[in-house]
Amino acid sequence: MDPLLLLRELLVLVHLVGFALLFGGWAAQAARRRTTTTTLFRTGLGIMIVSGLLLAIPFPAGIHLDYVKLAVKLVIAFAIGGTFGVVITRERAGRPTKAPFWTIGALSLLNAGIAVLWH
Ligand code: HEM
Repeated sequence: MDPLLLLRELLVLVHLVGFALLFGGWAAQAARRRTTTTTLFRTGLGIMIVSGLLLAIPFPAGIHLDYVKLAVKLVIAFAIGGTFGVVITRERAGRPTKAPFWTIGALSLLNAGIAVLWH
């Protein structure tokens, strides 16, 4: 097997682990009726952005990447990061709110939907 293709597939695996941490961490909080953030899903988002940017490098030769789709995913990933900021600021101020927490879950699912359904 082409080592660069193997590297790409391993990066997709890391990307999916990031999604498991991000969405799983968020869902675990939602199931406990808690709207605070945890290190688990903040780490997941970091893994998604770093592995996603590495996956945006066109290797091995001949691979086709849709950069409009990737730009949309990057913007949504940064919007999730910004929403984390809102949640954390409100937590620290002792005013936790539900809407930004649910926005993080919805945007994460939206980005996974774009990844799978946008051809
Ligand atoms: C919350 C943020 C994100 C989520 C939930 C997400 C979700 C996913 C999922 C579920 C896949 C596997 C789908 C498949 O292989 O068909 C995937 C693949 C991929 N993601 Fe992400 N992703 C996120 C952020 C990013 C970012 C920021 C980038 C880069 C700008 C990126 C680039 C890619 C690439 C290049 C692939 C390989 C498959 C393809 O070319 O579409 N992702 N993503």
